[in-house]
Amino acid sequence: MTEKFIPLIDHRQYQANLRVPTHLEEPVGKLADTLGRPLHDLRISVTDRCNFRCVYCMPKEVFDKDYAFLPQTSLLSFEEITRIARIFVQHGVRKIRLTGGEPLLRKNLEKLIAMLSAIPTLDGGKLDLTLTTNGSLLARKAKSLKDAGLTRVTVSLDALDETIFQRMNDVDFPVSDVLQGIEAAYEAGLGPVKVNMVVKGGMNDQQIVPMARYFKDTPHILRFIEYMDVGASNGWKLDEVVPSAEVIRKISDAGMQVRAIDPNYTGETAARWRYLDGNGEIGLISSVTQSFCQDCSRARLSTEGKLYTCLFASHGHDLRALIRAQDEQNSGHSDLAISNVVAQLWKARGDRYSELRSENTSEFPVTRKKIEMSYIGG
Ligand code: GTP
Ligand code: 5AD
Ligand code: SF4
Ligand code: SF4
Repeated sequence: MTEKFIPLIDHRQYQANLRVPTHLEEPVGKLADTLGRPLHDLRISVTDRCNFRCVYCMPKEVFDKDYAFLPQTSLLSFEEITRIARIFVQHGVRKIRLTGGEPLLRKNLEKLIAMLSAIPTLDGGKLDLTLTTNGSLLARKAKSLKDAGLTRVTVSLDALDETIFQRMNDVDFPVSDVLQGIEAAYEAGLGPVKVNMVVKGGMNDQQIVPMARYFKDTPHILRFIEYMDVGASNGWKLDEVVPSAEVIRKISDAGMQVRAIDPNYTGETAARWRYLDGNGEIGLISSVTQSFCQDCSRARLSTEGKLYTCLFASHGHDLRALIRAQDEQNSGHSDLAISNVVAQLWKARGDRYSELRSENTSEFPVTRKKIEMSYIGG
């Protein structure tokens, strides 16, 4: 019998009232939160829907035919998303990642990509504009995404074995289509393609070595992700987490020797390792056993325009309300006003959820209010 996990409450409804400061300041391209962390990375969820039902993200028992997904009118329009993105770039954001749900399900996404890619960074360069997808529509869309201005892509793939793949995502979709999507993305110039594998103990851990073998000596970068207690519906248990140290041990025991290498940038989620006896690298994302909150420079914008300063936050800040608000003159808030609200929120940020959980794993209240990853983006 499958267990049924029911979220206690719909946390999308929570919101804080935002106030525009009376004294407005121009953005200077640098913001620091209470722990001195800059704002470099904005993740934008463009839909809360997905055509997969991964057990660790959107379990079928909760996200069923009666689940209330957001109505169309709640979604930020492309113009609204672009306006907010521009404000964030003025505060120092250099990388934008589109997420979901499954972002390729959002209609005319290429149009949004073209609008975002036209935003210059503060030094006049190009944004790193990327996207996380389950790969189901990628083979078909890779070229148009590249042409629209996307710079690279990350594809989720939890197994090569059809039965295990299906057990992980609970839909009937062939692995080969995802693999074709990865190749099409690489061919289109969206590489290096990162491949994200969430490892859930007892479900797909026997796929660690086959996945490593398959992607070794390819230009793609496989990353193993520790199963996280994100959201409130996946019924997370600590004993289902496979620690990254164990992943490395399994790969070495299978005869693929690796050595740790330096990060690409401060605040990178993955620890990088390179094969000694061949080409290619892998990444280990260890938010449970080795949290990386210390340098976390990521902000998240939900599908309906709420700003979250942590993946595990229970409250969002309603930027859409500010954008759509009308005063007596029938005009909304200015970009400068919204920019000051964003600055105020980032300066007050002190989130470090994974770090706190690591310090106190056994007693940590896994049931505390948390937003679903399909709503906020990965
Ligand atoms: P690159 O830009 O290629 O370095 O990608 P990234 O690692 O920043 O982004 P990606 O979306 O590929 O992140 C990989 C996975 O890491 C996500 O799917 C999450 O499982 C996890 N992750 C990403 N950001 C965070 C974070 O801020 N906190 C925690 N705890 N986990 C995160
Ligand atoms: N633990 C770890 N990663 C998760 N993702 C979603 N849910 C979880 C979870 N519980 C991430 C995966 C997936 C991306 C869309 O979101 O990396 O590839
Ligand atoms: Fe969909 Fe990605 Fe969540 Fe799986 S992990 S259900 S593919 S959004
Ligand atoms: Fe950043 Fe929160 Fe993830 Fe820590 S838990 S790395 S603060 S998003």
